[in-house]
Amino acid sequence: MDNKVIDKEELSLRPKYLDEYIGQDEVKNNLKIFIGAAKNRNEVLDHVLLYGPPGLGKTTLAYIIANEMNTNIKIINGPSIEKTGDIASILSMIEPGDIVFIDEIHRLPKVVEEMLYAAMEDFKLITVIGDHVNSSSIIIDLPPFTLIGATTRPGSLSSPLRARFGIVEKLNLFSIEEISKIINRTAKVFDMHITYDASIEIAKRSRYTPRIAIRLFKRVRDYANYHNVKNITLDISSKALNNLKIDKIGLEEVDFKYLDCLINRFNGGPVGINSIAASINEEVQNLEDAYEPYLIQIGFINRTLRGRVASTRAKCYLNNR
Ligand SMILES: Nc1ncnc2c1ncn2[C@@H]1O[C@H](COP(=O)(O)OP(=O)(O)O)[C@@H](O)[C@H]1O
Ligand SMILES: [Mg+2]
Repeated sequence: MDNKVIDKEELSLRPKYLDEYIGQDEVKNNLKIFIGAAKNRNEVLDHVLLYGPPGLGKTTLAYIIANEMNTNIKIINGPSIEKTGDIASILSMIEPGDIVFIDEIHRLPKVVEEMLYAAMEDFKLITVIGDHVNSSSIIIDLPPFTLIGATTRPGSLSSPLRARFGIVEKLNLFSIEEISKIINRTAKVFDMHITYDASIEIAKRSRYTPRIAIRLFKRVRDYANYHNVKNITLDISSKALNNLKIDKIGLEEVDFKYLDCLINRFNGGPVGINSIAASINEEVQNLEDAYEPYLIQIGFINRTLRGRVASTRAKCYLNNR
């Protein structure tokens, strides 16, 4: 099974406890209460579904929950599970209180989703053997455990599966201030000094997304290390970032192709996402998950019932580029 390998550097970058985790205050406060209550009762935490755009901290939060609950975490990658046996072999090994983390849970096959219903609700593993004419089922009792699911597309889960999560939390895009704090924290991990205005400059180009902020910080660090400077200033970070093809507000080539297509080819919309995707040769899902959330957040586009619409602001921005 190709469980995701997380390297050492990545591990030290990830905050380990809720108090170290920057931003998402509502989610954090809710989790603090649910975790504290479960611990006081000496029970397992209810199943948790975390959803939101990529790179916002879903995986990080799953690890944090395990640390806070003081339990083991088993990590499963949705796309790597092909048959019920794959998941059954993992579930049959869990110990009381374990956390089972399923990343990209919307990509589980339907039969596997169905196996999870009873596992989540009654802590029972039901395996059907034989064919539809002559079948019997084996039922194994599971110890109480917590399933944490993470997904960029909660709408793609079957509703019975969604209904079995007692705790459902949505992660929203971060603020510039929060992102700049994450950049500062990252700088400390790498033993670099960064000025406040430099961290804001990087934050402004990070699409309100921690993963992008950390990536951009690493490129700025490269630039600084190459020039043998220990202190990252606004000047250093601007020069480094200008070398990457990312503009002042974090837009890159795909965003510009998207906006150009929507505004110039489809006259500003409304137009369906399928048409945009086809004409710029990108995948619908990729545009919806990785590009549109930010474009919507900064007021460049709108999702309407009749399709995508570009705002005046987007048109001005594109014209003055
Ligand atoms: N609040 C936060 N504070 C510090 N780093 C964060 C925070 N949220 C996310 N990160 C970092 O951002 C990166 C992406 O987070 P991750 O949990 O992998 O996102 P997701 O699973 O939602 O795609 C990781 O390197 C993680 O350490
Ligand atoms: Mg993840």
